[in-house]
Formats: sequence, structure tokens, C-alpha cells
Amino acid sequence: MTSQRPSFRLCCVFCALLSGILWLLMTQGLSSVASAQESPADAEKPTSPKPTKTEEKNARRYQMRRDHDPNGTGKFYMGREIAQVMSFHGAPWLERPEREEEERLSVLVKLLKLKPDMVVADVGAGSGVITILMAREVGDKGKVMAIDIQKEMLVLLGDKLSRIGLKNVELVLGTEKSPKLEPNSIDLALMVDVYHEFKFPFEMMEELAKSLKPGGRIAFVEYRREDPDVPIKLVHKMSEAQVKIEITQPEFGLKWKETIKDLPRQHIVIFEKPIEEPKP
Ligand SMILES: C[S@@+](CC[C@H](N)C(=O)[O-])C[C@H]1O[C@@H](n2cnc3c(N)ncnc32)[C@H](O)[C@@H]1O
Repeated sequence: MTSQRPSFRLCCVFCALLSGILWLLMTQGLSSVASAQESPADAEKPTSPKPTKTEEKNARRYQMRRDHDPNGTGKFYMGREIAQVMSFHGAPWLERPEREEEERLSVLVKLLKLKPDMVVADVGAGSGVITILMAREVGDKGKVMAIDIQKEMLVLLGDKLSRIGLKNVELVLGTEKSPKLEPNSIDLALMVDVYHEFKFPFEMMEELAKSLKPGGRIAFVEYRREDPDVPIKLVHKMSEAQVKIEITQPEFGLKWKETIKDLPRQHIVIFEKPIEEPKP
């Protein structure tokens, strides 16, 4: 009797395994039969909402190409390859001590001619190095809307703001297509090293143009692509001409105002939302 026990147990385990496999095969088979027997109406049910006409039109503004820069996304807009979004893991690079010498951020903020009561948007604020400089410049009567699509970046910035006690900054979690700003609410929207990595630049620009007050400005700070000595990967640089081509599209209603070339590596290309003339 005792010598038969192990083989009896082995036999039970084997049977249990076999019935498990059989059960799995049957349920898999049944579910595939069930899906094959779905009514045509069920099969046609859309998994995501049908794109609107505008969404379809906007989708045609972008092309995917196989042959592209390894540092880019393979997605092209108006002949330019869109760069990859810088991850929040790269925040220490934004905070590097030598950045002031390389980019003269304090000079950049002075060149923007901010006034004490302005509402400014730092679009793609990252860890907020420039947000903080601008918040000090606009003072208690003014406000900085710090927008980013990465929650982690906003958390880093939020921690810094509470440590230094700055209260005139509002953190906004945007999306790839929208900065989530109110229409006619912004005096100046700034993008430092950001625009070239927007996944949906057309949609973002439509929204940003709406968010500007009449007479409001939008400033693009990009590494100069025209200058081979600027030590930055090609897809992360933009020429002044390319910025102008993309931003002066009639849909946005913006006018080029000036290009400031006083920074060591970047240009500041500024556009304005014209004040509408009152109709006679
Ligand atoms: C290279 S970092 C620059 C950060 C900051 N402007 C600076 O110079 O310190 C680019 C930032 O833009 C953000 N970004 C990318 N696409 C965005 C979008 N559609 N809306 C808002 N932020 C975006 C990224 O998450 C990233 O934090």
C-alpha cells in the first residue's frame, strides 16, 4: 500500500494538469467562436470616437517617414522633423549651473520686456528655471502660468516654488494638443527650447493664438539651426525662416514682430496678435 501512494499522487497531479489544459483549450476555443459569431453590427462598432472633419484635415498636415534622423520621431510637419520630447529624467540638464553662461537666461527674460502686472505663460516649463525668473519679474500683481505635459516636471517645479515661497505661479497640466489656457487671457506666451518637440504643433498653435489677448505676444526661443557652431543635435534646432513659415500661417492670425539675436546660442522670434481695428 505505502509503496503505491507516490505513484497515486503523481497520477492525481497529472490528471489535474491535463484537465486544466483541456479547460484552457475549450475556453479559448469558445471565446474565438464567440468573437467569430459577433453580428456585423457589433464588429463595426468603433473602438474610439470617429475623427471629426477638422481632425482628419489636421492629421493630413503630418507625414511619417522611414528615412529620418535617429534623434527625431520620423513625424514631419511642413518639411521639418519633430524632435522627441525631453523626459523629466533630463531635468538636471535644464538645471545645470553652466546654463546661465551658455544661454544667458537672465538676459533672455530682460529682453522680453515684462511688466509688473502681466500674465505670462511658460509653455513647456519643464522644471521651471525660466518660470521662476519670470515670476520674479512680473511680481505679485502679475502671474505665470507654467504649463507642461509631464506631471513629474510640474511636481519638481511645485516643490521648488514652495521652498522659495513664490506664490504667483499657476501650474497647468496641458495635453499634446492643448495648453489648457483660457481664450484672451495671456499677455506673453514663451517657449524656450520647446516648440520643435510639440507632437501636434498646428493644434497647439491654434490654441495658443486664441489664448493671447489682442496685442499679446508669443516668443519662440530656439537653438539657431543656421549656426553649425551651436553644439545641439539638428532636430533640436530651428532656423528663423522655418519658425516664420510655420507661425505666420493664416489660421493663427499672428504677425511677425521681431527677431532678437543677442543670445549666445538661441534666437528669440516674436509674433504678435494684432489688435482688431474698430469697424466704422
Ligand atoms: C527641453 S524641455 C525645456 C523646458 C524649459 N522650457 C526650459 O528651457 O528649462 C521641453 C519641455 O517641453 C514639454 N513639452 C513638450 N510638448 C509639450 C506640449 N505639447 N505642451 C506643453 N509642454 C510640452 C516637455 O514635457 C518638456 O518639459
